[in-house]
Amino acid sequence: MIKNKSVIEKFLSPSKIVVLTGAGVSAASGVPTFRGKEGLWKKYSPQELANPQAFAAKPELVWEWYIWRRNLINQVKPNSAHHALVDLEKMNSGFTLITQNVDNLHRQAGNTRVIELHGNIMKNKCFDCNKTSDSEVHLNNGLPHCTYCGGLIRPDVVWFGEALPFEALQNAQSAVTECGLCLSVGTSGVVEPAASLPFQAKAHGAYVVEINPEQTPLTEHADLFIQDSADKVLPEIIIELKLAINQ
Ligand code: OAD
Repeated sequence: MIKNKSVIEKFLSPSKIVVLTGAGVSAASGVPTFRGKEGLWKKYSPQELANPQAFAAKPELVWEWYIWRRNLINQVKPNSAHHALVDLEKMNSGFTLITQNVDNLHRQAGNTRVIELHGNIMKNKCFDCNKTSDSEVHLNNGLPHCTYCGGLIRPDVVWFGEALPFEALQNAQSAVTECGLCLSVGTSGVVEPAASLPFQAKAHGAYVVEINPEQTPLTEHADLFIQDSADKVLPEIIIELKLAINQ
């Protein structure tokens, strides 16, 4: 897989490793991706379900969709790609995992240095005052309201047209400017500002590895493109790294 000694050295060097993940990492767990043949955006419309105007107009419809996704995600488990990234975090003291996924599977697997760029589908916040909320959401009890301002409670995810959480984006941007190795895994690389992060890493001198069964806008700029699924490739990389450490 990565038999090349100089690539293995980049993984084992003390310089920082940043991993950017997207929906493809959770595909083997059974969480649908957004784009591609079976992608969510083929069956559902982001205009109707994933933007603030849609929530303001039809909050019940938007909540129904998010409750469906929550239930689906509650039934799945992290896969071998998630577990391999936990091993990689243990091997690198400057490790940062930046994810566009809202499914919480990286934390569930055991990663601790996680930046959630697009929020977390299991969390709620107020649509008006933005305060986080622990309300349980069951639509048969009516829509939940904020205990501070009375506004509607919404899922704590980033919708189209919304800014990313400021601190998360800042931390992600400084991580990519400081890393020696940047992995882009399972993302189509078309949603900004996440899509630019591997390019920023490269501009600051990092070695960029992309893992994806399909080519993306990053592919021709990556130093190494591994055209395969993350759940296969990442565990193989960990085996290679452990072999190299024990040699
Ligand atoms: P996409 O659905 O756009 O892309 C998923 C990528 O995963 C594709 O490039 C696939 O080729 C790849 N893929 C599929 N199976 C894989 C596997 N087993 N291993 C590795 N790669 C695999 O998902 P994202 O790039 O994450 O935003 O999408 C970015 C953002 O667009 C999402 O966070 C979401 C969406 O709209 C918001 O909701 C704000």
